[in-house]
Amino acid sequence: MRTVTIKSAEEIKRMREAGKRLNRVHEKLKESIRPGVSTKEIDRVCEELIRSCGCTPNFLHYEGYPASVCVSVNDEVVHGIPREDRILREGDIVSLDTGLIWQGYHSDAARTYGVGKISPKAQKLIEVTRESFFQGIEEAVAGRHLYDISNAIADYVISYGYGIVYELVGHGIGRSLHEPPEIPNFPQRRRGIRLKAGMTLAIEPMINIGNGEVEWQDDGWTVVTADHSLSAHYENTVLITDGRPEILTLL
Ligand code: MF3
Ligand code: CO
Repeated sequence: MRTVTIKSAEEIKRMREAGKRLNRVHEKLKESIRPGVSTKEIDRVCEELIRSCGCTPNFLHYEGYPASVCVSVNDEVVHGIPREDRILREGDIVSLDTGLIWQGYHSDAARTYGVGKISPKAQKLIEVTRESFFQGIEEAVAGRHLYDISNAIADYVISYGYGIVYELVGHGIGRSLHEPPEIPNFPQRRRGIRLKAGMTLAIEPMINIGNGEVEWQDDGWTVVTADHSLSAHYENTVLITDGRPEILTLL
């Protein structure tokens, strides 16, 4: 089993820069969300934003994935493939998950947005999903344990009666997009590994209004809720320190 890497000061500098650049990409990319836009157009904008800041899209060609961003609409949980004929409509919710490489180091982050005016139910799901991440990182401190993060996310989400996707997890990140450890968002009986300063983690709750069951579509990528309820996703790349965690993909 590969072990969890501890980044050196030099590596952390690059991870910070990768995170900062990805945050800028997300801030610009959200301006492309409007009724009538195709998910493929969002991908074109995303790739251009990543390349124009001197970075490389890390999702593109990852295990054959054909785009720079995953655009997942409504009951799509994650890994929605951008398409020319998939048009966003007022009232949809859409999650944009993307990442980049800067000087050999990866960053990864996801946001969920409403398209135009959305229902209060959809808005609440987006807010609780985002907040569950912040509940999780309250525990993301050196000396605490990995699954303290998982349990904090899970407790918060369960208190709203939402379903936690249990087939997909967060992950370590660094010289690769996916490194150990896996970071579940659902309740764990054990505490997991002890967190250490210099670990970099992509923490990413994926939350459904209905239950946590998901299915894979025939394209081999798109994950949808089994009950077709709405799903939201929120993710940041985080650096563990001896004090409060640094959220590398937020300012
Ligand atoms: N953002 C996804 C994750 O967090 C990675 C997507 S891989 C891709 O693990 F191939 F779909 F891009
Ligand atoms: Co991720």
